[in-house]
Amino acid sequence: MELNLTPNTILDVQLGYAKRVLSLLPTVYGANPKACVVTFGCQQNVSDSERLKGMLFEMGYTLIDDIDNADFIIFKTCAVREHAEDRVFGNIGMTKQIKKDRPNTIVAVCGCMSQQEHIAEKIRKSYPYVDFVLGTHVEHRLPEFIYKRLSGGKRVFELSMEDNTVIEDVPVKRDGKFKGWLPIMYGCNNFCTYCIVPYVRGRERSREPEKIIAEARQMIKDGYKDITLLGQNVNSYGKGCSHGVNFAKLLRMINDIEGEFVIRFMTSHPKDCTIELLDTIKECKKVTRHLHLPFQSGSSRILKLMNRYYDREQYLELIKNAKERIPDVDLTSDIIVGFPGETYEDFKETLSLVNEVKFASLFTFIYSKRKGTPAATMDDPISRVEKGRWFSELLKVQEKVAEENIQKFIGKTFRVLCDAVSERDGYMQGHTQGTAVIEFKGDKSMLGEFVNIKVEAYDNGLLGKII
Ligand code: SAH
Ligand code: SF4
Ligand code: F3S
Repeated sequence: MELNLTPNTILDVQLGYAKRVLSLLPTVYGANPKACVVTFGCQQNVSDSERLKGMLFEMGYTLIDDIDNADFIIFKTCAVREHAEDRVFGNIGMTKQIKKDRPNTIVAVCGCMSQQEHIAEKIRKSYPYVDFVLGTHVEHRLPEFIYKRLSGGKRVFELSMEDNTVIEDVPVKRDGKFKGWLPIMYGCNNFCTYCIVPYVRGRERSREPEKIIAEARQMIKDGYKDITLLGQNVNSYGKGCSHGVNFAKLLRMINDIEGEFVIRFMTSHPKDCTIELLDTIKECKKVTRHLHLPFQSGSSRILKLMNRYYDREQYLELIKNAKERIPDVDLTSDIIVGFPGETYEDFKETLSLVNEVKFASLFTFIYSKRKGTPAATMDDPISRVEKGRWFSELLKVQEKVAEENIQKFIGKTFRVLCDAVSERDGYMQGHTQGTAVIEFKGDKSMLGEFVNIKVEAYDNGLLGKII
């Protein structure tokens, strides 16, 4: 029935359930019911979890980090690699004892992993103490599921993806006080042949620009100084929408909001990284000089098999344009080692690209076979051990590149948001205009403040002085 409701009514229905849960909880758990959200995976998941926490807070739960004392436990899972899924199963297993000790505890599994039928089936059969398995499109219905379960309802397995609208105005409880995530779109249409994300997150859905701007304004009003715009492919923001705002325009709109703050974004797909976007980054002073442009492989042959829509030459051309237009840009990337059919010759092209581009940092992964993706059926003759050797070789090359790269910051001055306490005694830390961490003398009172820092030396990290 609810499929015919508008997004706002859908949320209203859920807020209605939240109120009912609020009055029901003390009768089951006493005065102070507690909930714990355990998050795996990428920033999108972290951001989604902040909305789960917002809902749980509305329902009257106190949010805690310790699952042993929680009356409601929810695992927000990731399916991107096998290792991520193994970790989740290990954690779910731990709740068996908790349920034995306190049978009223509700255990839920949601996120990308639970969207997969075979995972839901495995939980149904082998993990009887899990109460809910929720796919990525129904998380906003948490109040309804909790209410029904507390009222004696059955276990819930809800993986429907029919409702492709973005549910707006879900209450949010952010983890940070001055650094915050701001989702601008959900899902992915790219279907890279190795990747599970499009299957578990569904098609691309962009939020309305007005909603994003309103949320950004609210965040700035609430004291946020560092806002990261999130999406699986942020630069396809607005495609297929009637409002005509693309990602570059959206960046300008956020940049125009008054106040001193920093705008970051991730992730960008090289195929959609336009000259308009590069110029926008250059012209918008609040946007960090950072481009995360995953290239995955330096071999055009492998890129084609990966369905990435660009080849080595096009990627290098894009990097050339980025460096020309934004001379102080920091480039970072993701790389997959050992894609099915990759040879050592192909891999050497990845190494040479890393040497050529000089990335500030890299996220490197050994290929992990994902059930249901096209790559899972491709021939994969290279052993895991061999792939491991290539992987170490790549890390060594990048280590050298990063070491050379970091020297360029010495002597330069940056406007830095003091965003964390450094591990170095008596030091605080922040970032350059891009991604590099700078440490400087200071104390906790500086957290969330902007300071001008001159970088003076490199000693296992950039060291600077407030000027
Ligand atoms: N949407 C983002 C990436 C999300 S997943 C983008 O396209 O840039 C983050 C990274 O995980 C990917 O860039 C890729 O490098 C890696 N990855 C995805 N699927 C993988 C797999 N099956 N095995 C190994 N690494 C994978
Ligand atoms: Fe996965 Fe490719 Fe989509 Fe990124 S762009 S989420 S790697 S399918
Ligand atoms: Fe993992 Fe889903 Fe993110 S699969 S990487 S949590 S989009």
